[in-house]
Amino acid sequence: MNNKIESILIIDYGSQYTQLIARRIRELEVFCLVYPFNKITKKILSEIKPAAFILSGGPKSVLDKNSPKLKQEILNTKKPILAICYGMQLVTKNLNGIVKRSNHREYGHTIIKIKKKSILFKGINKNAFNVWMSHGDNIIKIPKFFLITSLSNNKIISSIENTKNKIYCLQFHPEVYHTNFGSKIIYNFIFNIVNIKNKFRIQKFISNKVSELKKQIKDNKIICGLSGGVDSTVTAYLLKRAINKNLFCIFVDHGLLRKNEAIEVSKIFKKKFGKNFITINASKIFLKKLQNISDPEKKRKIIGKTFIEVFEKEAKKIKNVKYLGQGTLYPDIIESIPFFGGPTAKIKSHHNVGGIPKKMKLEVIEPLKELFKDEVRNVGKKLKINKNLLFRHPFPGPGLAIRIPGKIDNEKILILQEVDDIFVKYLKEKKIYNNIWQAFAVLLPIKSVGVMGDERTYNYAVSLRAITSVDGMTADFYMFTNEQLKEISSRIINNVKGINRVLYDFTSKPPSTIEWE
Ligand code: XMP
Repeated sequence: MNNKIESILIIDYGSQYTQLIARRIRELEVFCLVYPFNKITKKILSEIKPAAFILSGGPKSVLDKNSPKLKQEILNTKKPILAICYGMQLVTKNLNGIVKRSNHREYGHTIIKIKKKSILFKGINKNAFNVWMSHGDNIIKIPKFFLITSLSNNKIISSIENTKNKIYCLQFHPEVYHTNFGSKIIYNFIFNIVNIKNKFRIQKFISNKVSELKKQIKDNKIICGLSGGVDSTVTAYLLKRAINKNLFCIFVDHGLLRKNEAIEVSKIFKKKFGKNFITINASKIFLKKLQNISDPEKKRKIIGKTFIEVFEKEAKKIKNVKYLGQGTLYPDIIESIPFFGGPTAKIKSHHNVGGIPKKMKLEVIEPLKELFKDEVRNVGKKLKINKNLLFRHPFPGPGLAIRIPGKIDNEKILILQEVDDIFVKYLKEKKIYNNIWQAFAVLLPIKSVGVMGDERTYNYAVSLRAITSVDGMTADFYMFTNEQLKEISSRIINNVKGINRVLYDFTSKPPSTIEWE
């Protein structure tokens, strides 16, 4: 990164909200990085040279012997610190204040009252407001040279500060939407305490990245798995801008894409990348390997492995390749760092088409690895990528295979493609596509009796799914109106042979997942 851009270092103590802190800061166009508390080394500190630190919340108690610690050298750096929840208790403990376990756990909405004027509360025109709390331990004695700036309705200390040393502590979570003025508090910290001057602008990111990539790749060749998803598309366009004809993009059509997707995507990319865009129609190979397989995990594994085989075979035909471009994003990196030693619970083995064939011994380049999804879309907009590509709903690597529970065959794929196409076109036509995070149809592995015209039918049922979400980690089902449901259902029944029943899936995540398999 350009050294002139100042960065905030977020030290992660395992809170479920840590990524939200980073989001809030990036929304202010300020660069920030998240590092787990146990990965902070002198080397990292001297590389990042943070302008300030934010200590996140966390699930542990500072009173436990083996709880995560705060290195004294961070308190000694003289850089501003914003310590949130667990972070506040760590600062208190390190500076000889007293933290105590309490019988009264504060969780959820709580009102705090401002007791002393603070820069953090600048521009907040209320003396008392709602915040989001999530803690069991309380501070009962604040460290020397600190002041209490607010108390909660339960008489719990909710913020303290030492302005001379620029240490600001909050018991509540300003990063959570439920905290009134939360973004304002973070804004005040960033611009009125840390005094950040150089913002992280997307246009500047693009020009810096392009020259960085030019320098790194030089005259070597790079290949890129292009799936048509936002991340791999933006990666490829950025690489193209940097090194032009030395970029080779490979698009593997596994035969499990949406209707016409392979043709449409190929058309756009062919225009952009010319003969350096290679489409591989491997649907026969994939379908053969998936024949008679009904276990969801087996399907995913087969698709993942076959993808790599096909990709590798094609990539080998391009001579003298040194690099592999990948669309890894910042959340992928944060989420893949295991906390407290253990890997996070595995619900499904996700496999990203465009994923890395490990055996290939190519050096990996990930130009978007510092960015969040919305920032990637902004890069895409600046690179003038077709809006339909940038704002498409996410589509899973294994494609329709995980939307056909049970065995897969050609007939089922064709039926599902038709239903999916009608459903998605309806959403676009009625201009609700962009209010929905993801929408698709699932072909159920059962047939039921119906009557059409005067004839008895015995056909498949489909279930429609439409959800709203911020990041796909949790989701709510989308509420269509009665009229909309009726219209979608009749369009499907009237136009797709082989379907005589349409169901709507109204389960949120959790307890369900978004996909059916
Ligand atoms: P679930 O079903 O786990 O899905 O709630 C969350 C999000 O991830 C997508 N998804 C995948 N994406 N490869 C992918 O690239 C996969 O194997 C995969 N499985 C699920 C899903 O579509 C949703 O957006």
